[in-house]
Amino acid sequence: MEVFDRLTQLIAEIESAPAPTPEAVEAFRIRYLGSKNVLKPLMGEIRTIPHERKREFGQLVNRAKEVAQQRYDDLLTATKNGEQSQEASDLDLTAPAEPLPLGSRHPIALTMRRIVSIFERIGFTVAEGPEIEDDWHNFSAMNTPEDHPARDMQDTFYVSAGMPAWPDNTAMLLRTHTSSVQARTMETQKPPIRIIAPGRVYRNETISARSHAQFHQVEGLYIAERVSFADMKATLLHFARAMYGLETKIRLRPSYFPFTEPSAEMDIWWGLQTEHDHRITKGTGWLEIMGCGMVDPQVLTNCGIDPERYSGYAFGMGIERQAMLLYNIQDIRLMFENDVRFLRQFASVL
Ligand code: DAH
Repeated sequence: MEVFDRLTQLIAEIESAPAPTPEAVEAFRIRYLGSKNVLKPLMGEIRTIPHERKREFGQLVNRAKEVAQQRYDDLLTATKNGEQSQEASDLDLTAPAEPLPLGSRHPIALTMRRIVSIFERIGFTVAEGPEIEDDWHNFSAMNTPEDHPARDMQDTFYVSAGMPAWPDNTAMLLRTHTSSVQARTMETQKPPIRIIAPGRVYRNETISARSHAQFHQVEGLYIAERVSFADMKATLLHFARAMYGLETKIRLRPSYFPFTEPSAEMDIWWGLQTEHDHRITKGTGWLEIMGCGMVDPQVLTNCGIDPERYSGYAFGMGIERQAMLLYNIQDIRLMFENDVRFLRQFASVL
């Protein structure tokens, strides 16, 4: 009979009554135990029940009442306990919040910033270029055409051609040096040009404690009228002293780069006090810091600058080794592992 089903349904409803918030408990009381509760109209139906089932019906109604009362009592205690546990809790809502853990600058970023800011103070501005570079800007424009043996020294990772955004048949590669930014800048700016270009570079190197397949460089380029080797030397001496101390001595050794003529390597005097000094300077006391030279006229021509009118110098230096020297880091791989125990140690470095 329908009325039996409705009663059974009500009992199920009572047993699964809502979460014990004070409002919900009061609503429960009104609905199932109040003076106009939902059981009352059902109880009136007793008249329509056939005689032989009246007893069964009465039992079911009584059960519904009991269940409702029981459930109400349970809900009430649950809310009381809830209130109590909140009162008793020692959560102090007025206490200051836990401080958010602040990160720290990476030693590479610290070193890079230091280098860049030295050059910024003497009028250089920061320039950038893409890490996925085309063959032209990384090699050919920099006077290293496809068959040039100097390409062997800078093997890198090639990215397959034919991606939608790239010109057809252009070899795309992970740039091997920040010198590509020189080419990009000369193509788009007129002299005088005075830029400093920090960034990440890649080479196909075996990873060890001393070398990695990814590292960072800072490139410099100065192009104007009548720029001389003496200008370059004075600027680099200034840099070396600002970076490593006012007493720092430098030396320029003849070298070779396809994009500069003449080319040099700059060493700083490190000294030979300790065994460590002997090791890192290979017993000479001199430490190589960067490559540099006068921009090759062919590079100027490649990038649309008249070599008859303008001249300039360029330099490029690695960051990791300098960071390792500054902060006494023994293994270059630490730089790329992102172990917070390593990184946290630089939190106090400005
Ligand atoms: N690009 C060179 C390298 O990665 C470094 C370099 C040497 C940059 C001489 C220069 C330069 O601008 O003039 O080994």
